[in-house]
Amino acid sequence: MSNDPLVQAAVDARLRAYAPYSRFQVGAAVEATDGRIFAGCNVENAAYPEGTCAEAGAIAAMVAQGGRHIRRVVVCGGGDAACTPCGGCRQKIREFASPGTPVTMVSAGGAVLQVRTLADLLPDSFGPDSLT
Ligand code: THU
Repeated sequence: MSNDPLVQAAVDARLRAYAPYSRFQVGAAVEATDGRIFAGCNVENAAYPEGTCAEAGAIAAMVAQGGRHIRRVVVCGGGDAACTPCGGCRQKIREFASPGTPVTMVSAGGAVLQVRTLADLLPDSFGPDSLT
């Protein structure tokens, strides 16, 4: 049990992951700049490429509730190693975050394993400003 509600949201979401194929459960939580927390988990599919990542679920939940800016991200994986966001999820986070936005990786129990900025994870990124 973490005393950080964002970590706890990611830990709780991981427990609800639907990952019968990989057996690799992931939870993610984003904190919007207005303080609201949105969580997601990976949702796999028998048609494997149709599965979705935990981060994508959390971001979709935020956007559906009107959130547009991410202040913090937490990703919760099950193994001993930090579950860092996949490349596609780094880009999805980029859409709604800033280079300095912290991305924290935690264990299944909520222990902090790594903290990186989005810019560390996705340097020289292409984002909304790149189109102007
Ligand atoms: N997964 C995530 O949910 N987030 C990531 O950033 C890495 C990978 C999921 C996708 C798939 O359901 C399982 O982990 C194994 O790749």
